[in-house]
Amino acid sequence: MTTLEEQLGLLFPAAADVPAEFRLEAEVHQKEYLSDGVMKTWNGEVHTVLSPVCIKTEKGLERKVIGSYPLCGAEEAMSSLDAAVNAYRDGRGEWPTMTVGERIACVEKFTGKMIAKKKEVVQLIMWEIGKSYADSVKEFDRTVEYINATIDALKDLDRQSSRFAIEQGIIGQIRRSPLGVVLCMGPFNYPLNETFTTLIPALIMGNTLLFKPPKHGTLLHYPLLEAFRECFPKGVVNTIYGRGNVIIAPLMESGRINVLTLIGSSKVANQLKKMHPKVNRLRAILGLDAKNAAIITEKADIDLAVKECVLGSLSFNGQRCTAIKIIFVHKQVADAFLDKLSAAVAQLKFGMPWEKDVFLTPLPEPHKPGYLQSCVADAAAHGAKVMNAHGGAANASFVYPAVVYPVNEKMKLYREEQFGPVIPVLPFESIETPIEYLIASDHGQQVSLFTNDAAELASLIDPLINQVSRVNINCQCQRGPDIFPFTGRKDSAEATLSVSDALRAFSIRSLVATKQTEENKALINQIVSEQSSNFLSTKYIF
Ligand code: G3H
Repeated sequence: MTTLEEQLGLLFPAAADVPAEFRLEAEVHQKEYLSDGVMKTWNGEVHTVLSPVCIKTEKGLERKVIGSYPLCGAEEAMSSLDAAVNAYRDGRGEWPTMTVGERIACVEKFTGKMIAKKKEVVQLIMWEIGKSYADSVKEFDRTVEYINATIDALKDLDRQSSRFAIEQGIIGQIRRSPLGVVLCMGPFNYPLNETFTTLIPALIMGNTLLFKPPKHGTLLHYPLLEAFRECFPKGVVNTIYGRGNVIIAPLMESGRINVLTLIGSSKVANQLKKMHPKVNRLRAILGLDAKNAAIITEKADIDLAVKECVLGSLSFNGQRCTAIKIIFVHKQVADAFLDKLSAAVAQLKFGMPWEKDVFLTPLPEPHKPGYLQSCVADAAAHGAKVMNAHGGAANASFVYPAVVYPVNEKMKLYREEQFGPVIPVLPFESIETPIEYLIASDHGQQVSLFTNDAAELASLIDPLINQVSRVNINCQCQRGPDIFPFTGRKDSAEATLSVSDALRAFSIRSLVATKQTEENKALINQIVSEQSSNFLSTKYIF
């Protein structure tokens, strides 16, 4: 029987050992980008994309080269901005003035073409960010479902708006209108899904887009660019590539970005917002930092708490904004919880993303293994121990999960969002300890409560629901189902996303109103019956 160290040593395959069906047919060297309705050729500097998956070579382990993408500069970004501004044309462009039904038809056509690219996109998700093949497929399918649900929600919204309201002698028709040019940036952990949960609602509401794919998780968007080009009028979807600090500042400073949507850090979001010369004109829709806590009381079902905390803290190696990133456990049950948690972690299968039932996989961010080890060392220096066998052991881009206990306020793990497979656990005697932690925290996304006592639960729900945006009872934190609101307080989010909330976030209520006179009624009737306005209309989408 091999030891865990030996298994870690054998983790990465030689090139010939990658199963044929999961091999990339060829490296993907992207030399073009979509701007102003054209796939523009790029012959300049490129960024080489290295997979978190290492390959055994004669020289040792090497991250597999997947391909490369353009590192364009400010000039290309600004000309894509011009394209988006021109396509919007102060709200008079083809896209913002199209009927909702016509916009939906474009998105449906795009979805069909996207589905045709599923195999390529899924392979690239797996290779670029090390997500298991099964979860990469799930991410793709969930995104398609999200688009379809968005279309249904918009039809519903449009049906509700296809009528006139009459109040106090005023006739009005109230609809939602687009906001302008949206700068859209997604995260590496859900590079397709989280990007599209902002990009698609922004698009379908009639805005025009500048879309910057995440640093890790860029190439997977390449197979979709042609579909964007074919399905939308020119300049409506534009991609921008390059270093954030080079291309984003001039875009924001131009004052021509109307909506910033970013899933990333609050630090970056704040810097970007401040660059806009008229912050009042900028709408921000942001998913930001989070440090969700689990609270396990004496009255919890420990087996259930362990099961959910493993899912919550280690799904996709803890690289979810909704991950449980700190666990408070009552002193009376701490030993039992830690023993069972360590045993459960030992059962998790680790390996390459294509392996069946694999749970733990290599990490895409090159600095992450070193950072996680520094967190564990810092905790050890302040009195904590790694409780599980081999916790924190690493080989290149892979880090074996560490259960760290007892964590205290002096440690980085107490406040920093580790975004990786390290589970900080704190003991408490008074329930005020975790409550005070959440009050003092800069984060306010979600919490998970574990107890089987209804009175205890009720006494926790009321104070905590005003600290975070979602209280989960006896289950891990998560974003879904996608029709539920997804948001956060403090530094965790700005605005709310869900299938229907996102449509609202990327639009503004606008209305046409008039006094209820015979003359005005005749005018409105004429416009409606001649169908001469797309806004003032009672046309109904089925
Ligand atoms: O990274 C944050 C994601 O929105 C989390 O989504 O809870 O479905 O994994 P999830």
